[in-house]
Amino acid sequence: MENSGEKIRELGLIQAEDYTGVSIETFIKIAKDFANKLKGGQMVLFFGDLGTGKTTFVRAMMEAFGVEPAVVRSPTFNIVNTYESGDKVFYHIDVYRITADELFDLGFYDYQRSNSIVLVEWAEKIAHEVDQPDYLISLSVNDKNMDTRDIIIYKRGRFD
Ligand SMILES: Nc1ncnc2c1ncn2[C@@H]1O[C@H](COP(=O)(O)OP(=O)(O)OP(=O)(O)O)[C@@H](O)[C@H]1O
Ligand SMILES: [Mg+2]
Repeated sequence: MENSGEKIRELGLIQAEDYTGVSIETFIKIAKDFANKLKGGQMVLFFGDLGTGKTTFVRAMMEAFGVEPAVVRSPTFNIVNTYESGDKVFYHIDVYRITADELFDLGFYDYQRSNSIVLVEWAEKIAHEVDQPDYLISLSVNDKNMDTRDIIIYKRGRFD
């Protein structure tokens, strides 16, 4: 996560919410509340090391949209999982193992449509490929209590 502050500013994002030392229960509630803001057409980037809760956050978001939590799994190997809810389509992507070229082959640049919501784990790796993410969620293990997490939610600064 070195230089992530600089990357975040370059993406035109500003800090909107900041939580320190949240329990798993609060973490899930924050994710569900966040989901309720999304109307469609958004891209959400997730920054955070292994096991910080990126997939857990996405699973709770999907639950808020009525998607069965059990189907929301880490797309580490298959790269992209697709979920549907009502008229919305969700692309849950893990870019840990892929390059920018592979991202293009995947159709990533066509994913941003009015009824789609794109959720990207390990987005540190592709942040330079994304023009205008709507949100960025930075997750880390709290340094005093490993059972809790620190969460910073950034949003597009210029238009909101
Ligand atoms: N306070 C907490 N908030 C969120 N997750 C927590 C908390 N305490 C423990 N956990 C656990 O941390 C784990 C986070 O795993 P998860 O797969 O969501 O991380 P990830 O960031 O997606 O990892 P990866 O980089 O491997 O994709 C889960 O097992 C979750 O239950
Ligand atoms: Mg994950």
